[in-house]
Amino acid sequence: MKTLSIRRPDDWHLHLRDGAMLEGVVGDTSRHFGRAIIMPNLVPPVVTTADAASYRDRIRAAMSPGDAFKPLMTLYLTEHTDPADVEAGQRSGLITAVKLYPAGATTNSHGGVRDMEKAMPVLERMADIGLPLCVHGEVTTPEVDIFDREAVFIETVLDPLRRRLPELKVTMEHVTTKEGIDYILSSKKNLAGSITTHHLIINRNAILVGGIRPHYYCLPVAKREHHRLALRAAATSGDARFFLGTDSAPHVDPLKECGCGCAGIYTSINTMSCLAHVFEEENALEKLEAFTSLNGPAWYGLPANEDRITLVRREEPASYPAKIETGAGPVTVFDPMFPLHWAVE
Ligand code: NCD
Ligand code: ZN
Repeated sequence: MKTLSIRRPDDWHLHLRDGAMLEGVVGDTSRHFGRAIIMPNLVPPVVTTADAASYRDRIRAAMSPGDAFKPLMTLYLTEHTDPADVEAGQRSGLITAVKLYPAGATTNSHGGVRDMEKAMPVLERMADIGLPLCVHGEVTTPEVDIFDREAVFIETVLDPLRRRLPELKVTMEHVTTKEGIDYILSSKKNLAGSITTHHLIINRNAILVGGIRPHYYCLPVAKREHHRLALRAAATSGDARFFLGTDSAPHVDPLKECGCGCAGIYTSINTMSCLAHVFEEENALEKLEAFTSLNGPAWYGLPANEDRITLVRREEPASYPAKIETGAGPVTVFDPMFPLHWAVE
């Protein structure tokens, strides 16, 4: 039996949803994680500081009494976002970041930004006050192949934006390509990237070989193997610019298993087991803590969690349910396709 003690991890990109789904999933995150950046793509989205305060209260109400988990709230950037409201939200300590969804890029993103020019006043204010922009980095132009959308976004949107506003802190979320990793590595400041659990484990074959497997479909979609290897190298390197954002994104099974299934993979429940496996495979268990518990807080200007968790490796694999039952319906749990010997004690 091996054990590994690390500072309590945080999740720097999480979908908790609302209502019965929120109640059904929040405990899977708060069991292991101290904090999480909560995505604002509800219907309707979280666009104002007042929306974020009320969503935070609903999250707290869905948590078990005494649960110390801290949701870090974000605002959904629109072409009408008010810079003064964003600044007030940051000053009050409620708002940790603002999220850019290019319109149409992913689940509930139709209210996102079409014309970056219209978002410039808010982005300029964020650069002034040091509030990070979390970016879903994919173009939505129909001519661009879905597997190229991240690379094209970097070239045509992100890099021009960062040249124009070098003081803006940008988190490239759920990086899925070698181009994304290389872009982050090439930058000296104000750019970092989150990496999901599942993109360290699957490539696009998981979705398409032997039949269509909707529970491996997420956005950005998993890419070729050499991209997965670049993500693994970055995550396990200890480089402070890379940290965990699970992008755990629950959808009930009927909405995944149908003719036009939703994007999103549910990993909250077994993420730490999966990550310990990946880091052990890469001979980098000593870098796990940097990825899950140290680099993220440093980037967001927060202290690392004080308390610790212990991961234990047993001969007998840990068992996780194939699906969880929520008040909204069943949600399939990410299957890494290998036995998970590590578990949080
Ligand atoms: C997310 C969701 O379902 O809200 N889906 C996903 O595939 N990751 C949205 C997102 O982060 O793209
Ligand atoms: Zn997401």
